[in-house]
Amino acid sequence: MAKVRSQFVCQSCGAAYPQWLGQCTQCKQWNTLVEEVRDRVEEKRGTPASVKGRNPRPIAIDEIPAQDGPRLPLSDSELSRVLGGGLVPGSIILIGGEPGIGKSTLLLQTALRNPDLRTLYVSGEESEHQVKMRAERLEGTSRHSKEGCYVLTETNTQNIFKHIESLKPGLVVIDSVQTLHTATLDASPGSVGQVRECTAELMRFAKATDVPMVLIGHITKDGFIAGPKVLEHMVDVVLQFEGDRDHAYRLLRPLKNRFGSTNELGIYEMQGTGLAAVEDPSQVLLGDRRERPSGVAVSATLEGQRPLLIEVQALVSSAVYGTPQRSATGFDLRRMNMLLAVLEKRCGFRLGQKDVFLNLAGGFRVEEPAIDLAVVCAVLSSNADIAIPMDTAFCGEVGLTGEIRPVTRTDQRIAEAQKLGFARIFVPKGTKGIGPAKGIELVQVGQVNEVLSHLFG
Ligand code: TYD
Ligand code: MG
Repeated sequence: MAKVRSQFVCQSCGAAYPQWLGQCTQCKQWNTLVEEVRDRVEEKRGTPASVKGRNPRPIAIDEIPAQDGPRLPLSDSELSRVLGGGLVPGSIILIGGEPGIGKSTLLLQTALRNPDLRTLYVSGEESEHQVKMRAERLEGTSRHSKEGCYVLTETNTQNIFKHIESLKPGLVVIDSVQTLHTATLDASPGSVGQVRECTAELMRFAKATDVPMVLIGHITKDGFIAGPKVLEHMVDVVLQFEGDRDHAYRLLRPLKNRFGSTNELGIYEMQGTGLAAVEDPSQVLLGDRRERPSGVAVSATLEGQRPLLIEVQALVSSAVYGTPQRSATGFDLRRMNMLLAVLEKRCGFRLGQKDVFLNLAGGFRVEEPAIDLAVVCAVLSSNADIAIPMDTAFCGEVGLTGEIRPVTRTDQRIAEAQKLGFARIFVPKGTKGIGPAKGIELVQVGQVNEVLSHLFG
């Protein structure tokens, strides 16, 4: 077999080198050189037989048949919804997450619980026995499945393609893309060049054969999917599987979706028998505590399209050391510091000599600004050591002048709070489009000070 020639290309300026260098001599960037194939040998090896012979030509957009129907529904309602209503044939889905978060579990249980979908589970990380052991833990294995789940422990892309062509599965799962290697590159599996080249091959294969594929990807310690950034550009859907490993909740969040909205969110709970969809997350998160201590406020937030009531907990205490400590879990620390500065400046609270700790219940992370008001109220409640009535919820963004600004879809938040039995909700003044709410008192507030006089008199 003729040796494939590769070269090292700077990902920043595009300069090419015959060997790897730590620094690009053209643009002076470090660690940007990546091995790439120089002579593509697709005609000989890189492309499976079924892809050859396709001869695309320009087609008027009106003549292209609309492919709206054929989404493959999945038994897992959360995954289905996050994908935008099922699997699209020929699509490539990349799912990333920390080790041990449950990526392999999620996909294996998807394979097992969709008996009509023949699935090929390609495992480069675990042996057949390990996959089998995991399958036995997962409940709901349909023994009368028509199609079933096949396991393949292989890492060479060309061999995988051969098996796909003979098995003809309806879904292929690759666990994980970092273990794959293609014969067209010398680099070791997991290197940037290999990951990119393998994904490119899988993508061409999926598009040509209409087999949907799910790739599991490792993430680096900064939370990015390991490998080149172009990976995320190449695939159709990027899902992030996240959650605190110490908590049972797992969130499946689309970062990119060519076939649906990225505003969806799937919530799972890791149980002894796999991941179970959480139908009513607010109920689970709030628990059924009779009384709330001081420092706790409930925020009506939106996670994706779903309204979600989350408990915000704050602890304010006198700083023992010179510099007060500030720490936030599940909330942006800089934003918390900003809110504390607003309280200091606009409401005259002396928080400068206090330690402030903030925590969102259940290991959730909220980025939308509507949670601001609950954060502010939790901090003040802890500072004054006065509990907020447990039937009160909050939503509203806090601006730099201490004003409370309207947030999106307030009516949905109100409806959720009312559904869960809250008697009162603080909403920003001037929110448009909210009708008179039944069974819940709306308190419209325009300034942080107003909320304080309502709560603490
Ligand atoms: P795994 O799915 O292998 O994670 P990843 O592929 O993302 O690295 O592991 C998930 C973790 O969940 C593992 O530590 C064990 C645990 N687990 C359960 O709690 N219940 C189960 O039914 C299974 C299969 C795993
Ligand atoms: Mg795994």
